[in-house]
Amino acid sequence: MVNPSIQTLVIKNLINFLLILALVVVAIAGMNYRALSKQAIENQALAHAKLVRAGLTAHMKGNIMHKRSYYLDEIRQLHNINSLEIVRGASITAQFGVGMGYEKVADEITEQVFITKQPLFIMNEFTLAPTIRAIIPYIASSEGDLNCLSCHQVDEGAVIGAVDIVMDVSEYQRRSFMVLVGIFTTIVIFTSLILLNTARTIQKHVQRPLEDLIKTADSAYHSHQPVNPNNFKTREFVNVANEINLFNDDVIAHQDMLKEKNRELEQLNDEVESTLRETVYTIGVIEEQRSKETSNHTKRVTLYSQLIAQKIGLTPREIELVTAAAPLHDIGKIGIPDSILLKPGKLDSAEYEVIKNHTSIGFSMLNHSERDILRSGAIIALQHHERWNGEGYPQGLKGENIHIFGRIVALADVFDALYSSRVYKKAWDIESIIKLINEERGQHFDPQLVDIFLENIDEIVAICDQYPSNSEIKK
Ligand SMILES: [Fe+2]
Ligand SMILES: [Fe+2]
Repeated sequence: MVNPSIQTLVIKNLINFLLILALVVVAIAGMNYRALSKQAIENQALAHAKLVRAGLTAHMKGNIMHKRSYYLDEIRQLHNINSLEIVRGASITAQFGVGMGYEKVADEITEQVFITKQPLFIMNEFTLAPTIRAIIPYIASSEGDLNCLSCHQVDEGAVIGAVDIVMDVSEYQRRSFMVLVGIFTTIVIFTSLILLNTARTIQKHVQRPLEDLIKTADSAYHSHQPVNPNNFKTREFVNVANEINLFNDDVIAHQDMLKEKNRELEQLNDEVESTLRETVYTIGVIEEQRSKETSNHTKRVTLYSQLIAQKIGLTPREIELVTAAAPLHDIGKIGIPDSILLKPGKLDSAEYEVIKNHTSIGFSMLNHSERDILRSGAIIALQHHERWNGEGYPQGLKGENIHIFGRIVALADVFDALYSSRVYKKAWDIESIIKLINEERGQHFDPQLVDIFLENIDEIVAICDQYPSNSEIKK
């Protein structure tokens, strides 16, 4: 999931906040406007009632009550009056009778108004044709020009009657609605402007500088160039740029220190390995001395093995390992008694079996180690007398089941034994050796190694010439 941007988060929160604000403002405005509208309608109804009362009183005083229907009809024609009816109070009915045809008989609601003596307004606003019914009582008073008591036989404060007006309020509702729409539209417009401006400000002063900062910080880290604080206008970004530079300097200093430490470690490791190589080689030479091997046999076998490993394309580390471990190939001879190892004549079969043990003795001497060189030495010690066709010892391994190190040293060791003289034999000539090795291709030796070996026989012979045996018998 991709995290939202600062701009998205701020705008989202702002929209929520402004939406709630707009709803609250519209609700308050709506309620207030409704109250004001209702008040205005009620005032209008009261004004109509006063007008009717004044007109009726005038008619009464002018003694033209019989013409009052014309006057009332005129008022009925006024805008937004749906109906206008007069309701006689009990005292008037008692004095003048039940009244004329257009006068209404008091219903339950009007009776209630007669009791409370207070105007009653009943809104019927949730319909397609909203109305308000206003029932306004006429209270007898002797004050002012309209002295009711001069005509009516009632007490001061008694209810003479009431006017019952039903007025159309759809126009008021429409206006209220339009005002609310106006308020809402204004809020939406202002909100949109605020959002646009906020988005622009965030984009300009936060988002873009932040992206620039990330980019420059990234390249600063990789190219080790400092971030330029002058590229930023706001104080916070300048501070962050300075902090990044401080942090980056610190990282670079640590990296340099780590590189130095790493170099030192590599050097130490090289020294340890080179010491181990020398030690291993020296052990090989010691064994060579004890076995009365021709001198430099260990050196030559090591160099042949290295050359073959290079020519067949082993990895640099494998070449290092076979080169370092080859001197250990006969290390197991340390465990063979002198009487057998140094016996000048031919060995009998029992003695030969004892000699063969030098492979597994060498393996057990070295195999416990965790070091690659010694473990490679263990493999070479164990397998350098195995034969490609499976007729070797000690395990009779066949083909590629013999480790490549074992196959390489086997060839190098046999070649050197043939090409150098021993106390009991002369060195073979090179042609005879090549012939034998060819015959043993796929028998004693790995055929691919034989091919490589013979292709490079000149270099092999050159090694031998460089490190001859001291007791060299003329070849
Ligand atoms: Fe051996
Ligand atoms: Fe050897």
